[in-house]
Amino acid sequence: MKNQTTLVIGHRGAAGEAPENTLVSFRLAIRQGADALELDIHESAEGELVVCHDETVNRTTNGSGRIADLSAEELKRLDAGSWFGPQFGSEQLPLLQEVFALVPPAVMINVEIKCPYSARLEQRLLELLRHYGRLDSVVVSSFDHKTLIKLKRKEPALRIGLLYSANVASHRQLAAITGEDVYSLHPQYKLIDADDVADAVRSGLQVYPFTINKENDLRQALAAGVSGIITDFPGRLRELMNAD
Ligand code: G3P
Ligand code: CA
Repeated sequence: MKNQTTLVIGHRGAAGEAPENTLVSFRLAIRQGADALELDIHESAEGELVVCHDETVNRTTNGSGRIADLSAEELKRLDAGSWFGPQFGSEQLPLLQEVFALVPPAVMINVEIKCPYSARLEQRLLELLRHYGRLDSVVVSSFDHKTLIKLKRKEPALRIGLLYSANVASHRQLAAITGEDVYSLHPQYKLIDADDVADAVRSGLQVYPFTINKENDLRQALAAGVSGIITDFPGRLRELMNAD
């Protein structure tokens, strides 16, 4: 099963082995051989882009409350690692710019927008992408396709990726109906088979199913010819690809 072209995409970094969406998780994923990192963003009270999966800080920090109600300074004071293990107590919620500064451009970043669209979000995200020169090493994804279309119209060089968990008649046509130049499809992994993947890839789309952790499922996705695999265990996937 040689498949050197499939990207290993670390989900929230290496979320299976480190506190998700923290710098330690991103560093670990890169050390384990990830080609790309997936992360989630929300807006703080003043509009900073904060890397966190949930709308609140309750599950993954020692604080409580909605990210949208807290300032970046308040958010940075929280412990974002101890919930996963006492050795991670010094981890903070990263700001998106910290990740852009940390991660070399050779490692792609998949920024998933979790918060609703706002003009402020659009302005800050595009400003950071331009400032850090990351327009061609980031793909911005969301389950909210309208948000992606708005961003793409504002910045045509932006790479956008459609996330979806519902069964669709045609993966390729899902991209076509946005009316925009979509870079990638991010389906829940059980929704695809080899024919869907081949059809989408032939039309120039990247296919990055999420989130695949079990060896059998990883093997199936590789055999289906996907362009990348989003996994909590990038090290496992890298080993599997190296072994075969
Ligand atoms: O981007 C793929 C995957 O992360 C989407 O689901 O809930 O893990 O953000 P979720
Ligand atoms: Ca995500």
